[in-house]
Amino acid sequence: MKNYTQSPLPFQGQKRKFLSHVKQVLANSSNDATYVDLFGGSGILSHTIKQLKPSAKVIYNDYDNFSKRLSAVAQTNVLLDKIRLITNNLVKDKVICEPYKSEILKTIKQKEIEAGYVDYITLSSSLLFSAQYANDYEELSRQTFYNKVRQSNYFTENYLQGVYIVRKDYRELFEQYKELDDVVFLVDPPYLSTDCSTYSSDNYWKLKDYLNVIDVLVDTNYLYFTSNKSQIVELCEWMEGRTDNGDVNPFKGSTTVCINTTLNHTSKYTDMMLYKLD
Ligand SMILES: C[S@@+](CC[C@H](N)C(=O)[O-])C[C@H]1O[C@@H](n2cnc3c(N)ncnc32)[C@H](O)[C@@H]1O
Repeated sequence: MKNYTQSPLPFQGQKRKFLSHVKQVLANSSNDATYVDLFGGSGILSHTIKQLKPSAKVIYNDYDNFSKRLSAVAQTNVLLDKIRLITNNLVKDKVICEPYKSEILKTIKQKEIEAGYVDYITLSSSLLFSAQYANDYEELSRQTFYNKVRQSNYFTENYLQGVYIVRKDYRELFEQYKELDDVVFLVDPPYLSTDCSTYSSDNYWKLKDYLNVIDVLVDTNYLYFTSNKSQIVELCEWMEGRTDNGDVNPFKGSTTVCINTTLNHTSKYTDMMLYKLD
């Protein structure tokens, strides 16, 4: 079975840079445990764990209905074929001007009418400036197009094989599994106040939402993902110092793995994975 080293379709905030660390950290953990990916996103963490531990039960919370994008991949490939025919003679990475932009939009609209669905997020990565995404036709048509059209087909075969797919609020899923023996939670919530416009929940995650997630880290086995921008670890350490009570800090006794990320020459931050396993 193919081992994917990143999400097979574009997904903002996927944890591909942490995959080798996740494998290392879980190498000695139980092969038959239940792994619950509370904020599944692209499913790449669920996929990786299922590859590593074929007999484990892996639950992927597909809150954004990423599976729908996966099942539309053949149609997305056909659409990209048609877009390639329009853009073939245009300069790579440069702005796509008229009449080509209108021609592309017409092709997309036709496909949407015919098939009832178009994966706008995947198309965005072929047509929009990097990290710009559109969720529907109107959003896409308002933006400047760039010739970043992917030249090869997307391949998604067997990506979620063997993984249980659910779709619910993470709190409900946690309640369902928290009492189980031998359960590990993967906890990768949306980043605080960052652009989550391609996620299903259309509101930015506010401090309160972010802090509520801490509930799932109390007395559980977890892998938790954050960045130094959120300062949540400092906040919990501060609370611990204030109250002299180690219990208020769910990160006490955890181990941290850091990855430095450069967005551009002025913006750098550190992505972090904190884990605690029995
Ligand atoms: C940072 S992403 C997770 C990325 C994922 N770990 C990956 O590697 O692809 C956070 C995800 O949480 C989802 N989400 C937002 N609110 C949620 C909620 N209340 N319950 C479960 N998931 C939620 C978002 O839609 C998004 O898919």
